This record gives sequence, structure tokens and C-alpha cells, in this order.
Amino acid sequence: MIEPKTRAPSGIGLGSILVTGAGGEMGHALLAQLASLWHGKREIVAMDLKELSPDRKAHVQATYTGDISDPRLVEAIAANHDISEIWHLAALLSTRGERSPELAMQVNVMGSANMLRLAAESATRRKCPVKFLFPSTIAAYGVATLEAKRAAGTIHEGQCLEPITMYGVNKRAVEELGRYYARHYRLLNTDRMECTVDFRAIRFPGIISADTVPTGGTSDYGPEMLHCAAQGKAYACFVRPDARIPFMTMPDAVRSIMELASAPRESLSQLVYNVSAFAPSAEEIAAKVREFFPKVEITYVPTPERQQIVDSWPEDCDDSAARKDWGWKPEHDFAKAFSEYLVPKIKVRYGI
Ligand SMILES: NC(=O)c1ccc[n+]([C@@H]2O[C@H](COP(=O)([O-])OP(=O)(O)OC[C@H]3O[C@@H](n4cnc5c(N)ncnc54)[C@H](O)[C@@H]3O)[C@@H](O)[C@H]2O)c1
Repeated sequence: MIEPKTRAPSGIGLGSILVTGAGGEMGHALLAQLASLWHGKREIVAMDLKELSPDRKAHVQATYTGDISDPRLVEAIAANHDISEIWHLAALLSTRGERSPELAMQVNVMGSANMLRLAAESATRRKCPVKFLFPSTIAAYGVATLEAKRAAGTIHEGQCLEPITMYGVNKRAVEELGRYYARHYRLLNTDRMECTVDFRAIRFPGIISADTVPTGGTSDYGPEMLHCAAQGKAYACFVRPDARIPFMTMPDAVRSIMELASAPRESLSQLVYNVSAFAPSAEEIAAKVREFFPKVEITYVPTPERQQIVDSWPEDCDDSAARKDWGWKPEHDFAKAFSEYLVPKIKVRYGI
């Protein structure tokens, strides 16, 4: 359902920013950042399958409630706003995607294709590339066996690209579509733009937020452990104690994508970047959680299917390209993530 019909008050050349999936975990943190950066200067348009909460609506000038895979909704947004930048967050995450693979493909691939098309058409009309920020994921990687994962260790963007989940396959597909729209769109046209969609993607590790409890992801055991501990609940972890994948805090994740967005295009040597912060095992996360919440009871009840997914993701990611091209550096290492961000905020959240 389309809510307001607000014609973009752009007129100042900057155009409007569209944020899809604005009702999700990352949308929560990102909307506030975008609003403080662009307040009064640029229209922000938000959309999500579910209606946005009033606190999120306060950050934006127009909201749409609907499905990104519905072309009519995309057409309505294109007709009503002068879109010059798209932050495409909407997706079905890994666990939900594996339960409904065809729906995941519809949302994650066809919905993303709709957004890329919107970006390309807007860029053609504006005669200027439209920036497209895409949170990809370490699920885009796939290692065949646990032994191969351990042997591979820290991997760079070109390695191990055979994801085993529909979610990972979908994200890889969108990365490739992004490459097409950025570099080869309508390549037979003699008057084509050199870059139509300025596609920029980050393969995020598992993200831990103090403000929101995740749902539907396979890296959720990290944040779930902490949120349960803070609420005095026992936690049964769905992966083995030695399961290891990279994580980062939500503020670092949001800062990284904001920094990538503002980097000059000439300084970017690739379209898709790893970012990394810390890569603890499940047991190391549990030990850290116990430092702050000593009474927590954490047990391990691995679900073979979800364990298999985590075993197919890399132990850690080499983010040297992001560091070199746009100066990426995480603020929170493993210790600081807990002592300076997660624990203080989570104590306030749960009134401890
Ligand atoms: N959270 C993580 O650990 C993590 C890690 C790597 C990448 N990412 C990526 O970051 C993005 C945001 O993740 P998140 O953690 O905020 O996820 P989330 O599940 O909290 O948010 C996704 C949002 O997309 C919306 N959505 C789902 N289907 C939709 C549809 N058909 N049309 C419109 N909206 C729809 C949902 O309602 C939800 O509000 C996703 O693309 C995700 O793949 C997240």
C-alpha cells in the first residue's frame, strides 16, 4: 500500500535518497545517520514491507509500505520522486531464505533487479550516475567442507565464491547485476553512459546491535547470546562452540557503508568490498558474555543444518582493499565492542 504522495522537493540538484528495508535492524541505525547528514538538504524516502514505526518515520519525508518485488510500487516511487541514491537494504535473510527459497529469490533477486532498474532509469533521466549502496554478506562465500574453511583462513573478495544458501546465491547474483549496471548497461548503445549505476557493495559479516534483536539470520547466535544473557534468560546456541565467523558492531557496519558511499568513485578499485572487525568462535563470544553476565547459562545444541551453513562461511575476511581504497578501519575490536558499545547500551535497554 502506498502512503503519502509527496513530490520530491529536490530542485537543488541533489535528488532524493531511497532506503528500502528501512524497517529492519540496519535501517534503524542508518535512517538516523542519513537524516542527521542530510537534514533539510535532501529528501529521504523510506520503504518496507511493514509499516515504519513513528520514530523511524520522523527521520524521513515520505514512506511507502509495500513489496520491492512489486513493479507497480517501484513505478510509483519513480513517478513521485527524483531518486539519485538508493540504499537497498530490503532482503529475506539466510535462515528465512532457506525455509522459503523461491520467495527469497523473488525478493532478493527480482526485488533488487527492480531497484537497479529504477536506478538506471533515474540515472538516464538525470544524465548522471545514481549511487546504489548494497549490503551484501559473507554468505556470498561458500567453502565446501570444514577442513577447507580452516585451510582457507582469512579470504579475499575473489576466493570461495560458491555459496550454499539461496540467500548467498541471491546476494552474489545482485553483485553481478550491479557490475552489469555499473559497467556494461546497454553496451550496444553508442550514446550510453560510461557508468549508469554507481554500484557499491560491502560483504558484511554478522552484525551485532545493542538496539535490536535480530531475526532470520544464521549469524544470530552471537547477538542472541548477549540479548538473552542481559535478560537473565538461558541460551541454547544452535552452533558448535568452535564455530567461527567474522562479526562487527552495528555502528561500525553503518559507518563503513556511509564511508563507502562518500568515497570518491575514482578511489574505488572494486565494486564489492569485505570489511572485517573481529572473528571469535561461538565459545569465545560465550566467554565474553559471561565476563559481563556471569550467571548466564549457555549450552550448545547445534542444529546440523544451520551449523552446515556457518561451516560454509569463512573464518575471517581480508579487508585490505577497503582499508587502502577508502580508509576503512573498525572502531570496535572484540573487547571494545562489548565494553564500550554492547554492554553499556544493552544494560540501559533492559534496565539493568
Ligand atoms: N544483520 C546482519 O547481520 C547482516 C549481515 C550481512 C548483510 N546484511 C544485509 O543488510 C541488509 C539489512 O539487514 P537487516 O539486518 O536490517 O535485516 P532485517 O531482516 O532486520 O531487515 C530487512 C527489512 O527488509 C524488509 N523486507 C523484507 N522483504 C521485503 C520486501 N519484499 N519488500 C520490502 N521490504 C522487505 C523487512 O520487513 C525488514 O524490515 C540486508 O540486505 C541483509 O542481507 C545484514
